[in-house]
Amino acid sequence: MKNLAEKTRLIEEIKELKEKRQAVILAHNYQIGEIQDIADFVGDSLGLSQQAAKTEAKTIVFCGVHFMAETAAILSPSKRVLIPDLEAGCSLAASINADQLRAWKKEHPRAVVVSYVNTTAEVKAESDYCCTSGNAMKIVQAISKDKEILFLPDMFLGSWVKKQTGRQNMHIWMGECHVHAAMRPEMVTEKLKEYPKAELLIHPECGCLTPFLDQLADNPELKAIKVASTEGMIKAANKSTAQEFVVATEEGILHRLRKENPAKNFIPIAPEMTCQFMKMITLDKLHKSLSDDVYPVIVEKELADRARLPIERMISIF
Ligand code: 13P
Ligand code: SF4
Repeated sequence: MKNLAEKTRLIEEIKELKEKRQAVILAHNYQIGEIQDIADFVGDSLGLSQQAAKTEAKTIVFCGVHFMAETAAILSPSKRVLIPDLEAGCSLAASINADQLRAWKKEHPRAVVVSYVNTTAEVKAESDYCCTSGNAMKIVQAISKDKEILFLPDMFLGSWVKKQTGRQNMHIWMGECHVHAAMRPEMVTEKLKEYPKAELLIHPECGCLTPFLDQLADNPELKAIKVASTEGMIKAANKSTAQEFVVATEEGILHRLRKENPAKNFIPIAPEMTCQFMKMITLDKLHKSLSDDVYPVIVEKELADRARLPIERMISIF
């Protein structure tokens, strides 16, 4: 455990190394508070990929999980992309590989493939469109209604989009994120009973989402609900006049919510909703990343060229 003086020195050194390397630090909304505070940009998957695509920095140090750093490397092939811990993976991205996708495509040869950004470069390379939690609905709506869709890999996001768009010809891969899948509808209803004036901010990867929305029909008082990406949650909380919010997603988001809205009360659905992969990135590892130029995330050119197309199609829609 570092004392305050040691931590302050570490932060100063990170800033100096960042300048020396002409690097930019990008951090996801689930990173620990100290990493969010030192980052040049903090955001959701969509915002981070947009930043990666437009940055002029020579090096991108990606404080997030591996598929996010890989997306940055795909979008900025001339930049050096570093991740402070190569083990920072994602259970959702691990739920489908390129062979499984190719086999699924063979069963539906005319289908359009929409892959959530939480996928490997190999899976993106087999896809027609990429999407994030912030734009999945719009991407599906942008595809001609007569086209069959293969949506992957998140079943909760997929079933929510299917329900909202009323699209019948959409097949959904049965993948899930172990953190969000654990959120049950009873957890939401109980928290809202405890905080009856609270608005609900809920991530579409949550296992509780579709059953909970079904319950809404019988509970007209449970109306103040916002289904959103992590960045969408920040925007909704900043804009709302409500004073209390129940937050159904990984707990790292609370840092920014509280920082940007110090007078408002944010109640996590369950404090143990923690993504251990996101929490692998620490100040020490960020320091080492900048000082030792580790760990490079390299996507081989032919693969990157194929994986870039679905991401660029997504970015061009927004
Ligand atoms: P966002 O794009 O909403 O930040 O979500 C990324 C993610 O990994 C959620 O678990
Ligand atoms: Fe992946 Fe879930 Fe962690 Fe998001 S919270 S990075 S989907 S394991």
